[in-house]
Amino acid sequence: MVVVSGSSGRDVAEALAPLLGMQYVELVTRRFPDSEGYVRVPEEAIDVIRSEPVILVSNTYPDSGILQTILLLEAIGDIRKGDLENLKGIEPQSMPDVGPGVYLAIPYYGYSRQDKRFSKGEVISAKVIAELFARSCDGMAILDLHAPAVLEDMDFPVKFVSAMPEVAERLANVVKPDFILSPDKGAISRATEVANLIGCEFSYLEKTRIDAHTIEHTPKDLDVNGKVVAIVDDMISTGGTICRASDALRRQGAKEVHAACTHGLFTGGAISRLANHVDGVHSTDSLPNPRAVVSAAPALARGLKELLE
Ligand code: R5P
Repeated sequence: MVVVSGSSGRDVAEALAPLLGMQYVELVTRRFPDSEGYVRVPEEAIDVIRSEPVILVSNTYPDSGILQTILLLEAIGDIRKGDLENLKGIEPQSMPDVGPGVYLAIPYYGYSRQDKRFSKGEVISAKVIAELFARSCDGMAILDLHAPAVLEDMDFPVKFVSAMPEVAERLANVVKPDFILSPDKGAISRATEVANLIGCEFSYLEKTRIDAHTIEHTPKDLDVNGKVVAIVDDMISTGGTICRASDALRRQGAKEVHAACTHGLFTGGAISRLANHVDGVHSTDSLPNPRAVVSAAPALARGLKELLE
């Protein structure tokens, strides 16, 4: 098998290939001057893409990643179908169809939070995107999808996988926490997994989101006086959730507060906001970010092995 990527998800793809004992091949992705994307399977990759199943690693964030993923899946699909017809007349123009065997590995699945129709007229974006991809691949592995339920009823193989074992290992080695906190109910299962792997205490907060930049936590007594606490979430965007949770922990006497997540989006000054509230931030490299200290590749490798079995 071969692991391929365009510019989106390239670092994860390069790290993933050796873990799976596979070759990494970079596909051509670039931008026209008006910012529209261009993709191409290079001539030298055509044989390997036709002779072996292919894993495309690609993110759906930012929006350009979605389009790049769709275009690359189509380009790989054409190569495997043998549709090589081209205006330059480069031969061969067609070859036999080599059949199914294209898998998509998504380190960060953007639009995952738009997973319900809260008001009429809205669209369930997370589902729309998955349905687009399902047209042109044979299965997907997704790392720490915000709420997997949105894709669970798809008539299509989707493997959900988590980087929490790697996050737990990082926290155990570097932070040595006494206490793990989930900043909301949605992160409870991930944070519990980390607490169990480290063997430390656990609790959670109840969060109400007022708007994209404002959240409130219901006050709760936490037994954190003098303790080192790590807040574990699937993603950090503005950092608002972590900062408010950290404030609650500090008020209750926490000695040190760290934040850990799979997806470090760190939008709109989040890094400096977090620096004023926590002692350390630990993210995977599912997206390139300045706090990427954990590789997303081992978790994706686990998911892909299960998907391919
Ligand atoms: C939401 O439920 C997610 O799990 C995160 O808690 C949230 O997206 C973090 O966003 P922010 O960093 O902007 O508070």
